[in-house]
Amino acid sequence: MSETHENAPLKHLALIMDGNGRWAKARGLPRTKGHEKGADTIRDITVYCANHPQIESVTYYAFSTENWKRPKLEVEFLMKLLDRYLQSELETYMHHNVRFMAIGNIEVFSKALQKRIDETQQKTQHNTALTQILALNYGGRAEILYAVNRLIANGKQEISEEALSKALQTPYSDIDLLIRTSGEERISNFLLWQISYAELFFTPTTWPDFTAKELDEIITQYKTRQRRFGGI
Ligand code: IPE
Ligand code: IPE
Ligand code: MG
Repeated sequence: MSETHENAPLKHLALIMDGNGRWAKARGLPRTKGHEKGADTIRDITVYCANHPQIESVTYYAFSTENWKRPKLEVEFLMKLLDRYLQSELETYMHHNVRFMAIGNIEVFSKALQKRIDETQQKTQHNTALTQILALNYGGRAEILYAVNRLIANGKQEISEEALSKALQTPYSDIDLLIRTSGEERISNFLLWQISYAELFFTPTTWPDFTAKELDEIITQYKTRQRRFGGI
């Protein structure tokens, strides 16, 4: 496992899980199979992160505010998969001391799914090795607007960077390292506020094929980067 580099702390890792559909298509399988395999990848990466000495939280982009544009059947499948995933993951969370949290507007999800999310958050709330955050019906712009409106509603006249950072849903808000799989090199409305000084990595590997080994290699490269934060 990689050593800490003074220059490159690694408290918060963010992952844009992309390429499930292409992984399936390349194998002549329905897109849903790619999503299923992708859920296994989340488990492997979370276990790696829970055992990593520096990583305190990992945020995965699971469903964007734009993903509602997909065919109804695919959206429904993703919702069912999420429910199944949380049900089966509880054991992993407890075994590896992982706290689960959701960000994004989950109020539009079915009552049953909201209940599953709430219960998983409650049952894992005292776990301390890692916080695993799933971004669900999440958009970076929506998150910022929601926080600003909440501050205004609470009577804030002038909003500081610190106040806004705290009002966001995402805990430990600054991202150190953002990785996107599948070769696309864009942000797609993910964590816009929190990535202002993140180091970005893009890998051609599709999400279902992404492994803890590849993540470890990326972290090794990340440690060699000079993060200057505007200094010299
Ligand atoms: C990422 O894989 C999963 C979600 C966005 C839910 P995609 O489903 O976007 O896979 P591609 O990009 O079509 O291959
Ligand atoms: C980004 O992937 C959203 C998630 C990973 C949940 P998309 O596949 O939806 O992004 P675009 O449409 O290619 O930008
Ligand atoms: Mg995609």
